[in-house]
Amino acid sequence: MSIPIPGIAPHGGQLINRIATPAERAEFLAQADTLPRVTLDERATSDLVMIAIGGFSPLKGFMEQADYEKVVEEMYLTNGLPWSIPITLSVSEEVAAPLKEGNWVRLDDQNGRFIGVLELTQKYHYVKAHEAVNVYLTDDQKHPGVKVVYDQGPVNLAGPIWLLEREPHPLFPAYQIDPAESRKRFEELGWKTIVGFQTRNPIHRAHEYIQKCAMETVDGLFLHPLVGATKEDDIPADVRMRCYEIMLDRYYPKDRVVLGINPSAMRYAGPREAIFHALIRKNYGCTHFIVGRDHAGVGDYYGTYDAQYIFDKFQPGELGIIPMMFEHAFYCKRTQQMATTKTSPSGPEERVHLSGTKVRELIRSGQLPPAEFSRPEVAAELIRAAHG
Ligand code: ADX
Repeated sequence: MSIPIPGIAPHGGQLINRIATPAERAEFLAQADTLPRVTLDERATSDLVMIAIGGFSPLKGFMEQADYEKVVEEMYLTNGLPWSIPITLSVSEEVAAPLKEGNWVRLDDQNGRFIGVLELTQKYHYVKAHEAVNVYLTDDQKHPGVKVVYDQGPVNLAGPIWLLEREPHPLFPAYQIDPAESRKRFEELGWKTIVGFQTRNPIHRAHEYIQKCAMETVDGLFLHPLVGATKEDDIPADVRMRCYEIMLDRYYPKDRVVLGINPSAMRYAGPREAIFHALIRKNYGCTHFIVGRDHAGVGDYYGTYDAQYIFDKFQPGELGIIPMMFEHAFYCKRTQQMATTKTSPSGPEERVHLSGTKVRELIRSGQLPPAEFSRPEVAAELIRAAHG
């Protein structure tokens, strides 16, 4: 089933909806105790949801081998559409062995709740190092995304899925705005150009600066923080959401921003993930997408602007969403404003830019990060969250 959409077309032209209808749900529930079961980890659970709500359109399920290999090697699906991150359900040999292709598989979350169904069309083995090197550009298991690949099972289960029910987010129900809804919202607001912003951090001055530069040229900002699985030392989503509320309340015009959660899991795949993030925002109805410094990067695995250069691998218009690239932003003491090397006349000694590690250290020791780095209300919230 597909939903009619206003504005920008979703990836592949149709917004996918794989949420079971009441009749389908009744049928699945009637078989709940007889279907073979697979338990999803946090990432697979969020992938199931993203497929079902159309965030991963045109995907209707977990990838079959031909799509998987083409995505890993070439960044394309077999239907010719760009796609940069494999979406797979990986399980152990023991879990895979009794499952039969052609059958339905019951999908449970980590608490043993029946949340979805997979129509198993294919089981296949894959080469972890091959996936790691192509997608993450390293097979170093210290990389958090690579570690997930190496920790997961060796068999991929593929096929279309259904989500049993779309439940409100347990923590942020008011911000659960799925693609069909965000598209409607943008239309109601009369926005024709919408810039999407991905983040897994509280909004600091550099984020604010690049968002506002973008907002000067488009109708609205879709602030779309990722609230799925992140690595352990990232700031928890509930703390971040409070920081976003503070920022929107005090520092942004109310009628120019929509805040919604992105339920997917972080991969930390840098350049490849920037493409993925852009396609997801296209599905949510954005026309533009911000890509700043080291987008979705971690440690020193990627060059500062690799996540921007990768967009050149696609033909103009092929992705169907316009990337808005920004250089590394900092506070320029001479001009007393946020800037980049494109706009600041100063040398390095007049520029304030703090690393995430440095800011975490300050917060841990109860010190407010400087106002040039973070709005004070956000800094205070981070310290409150860290120290109770
Ligand atoms: S990410 O993993 O979600 O990309 P983060 O939340 O830090 O991490 O970044 C959100 C967006 O802001 C990304 O597009 C990133 O490139 C950009 N960004 C973060 N810090 C800066 C900065 N100092 N200058 C320019 N862009 C930045």
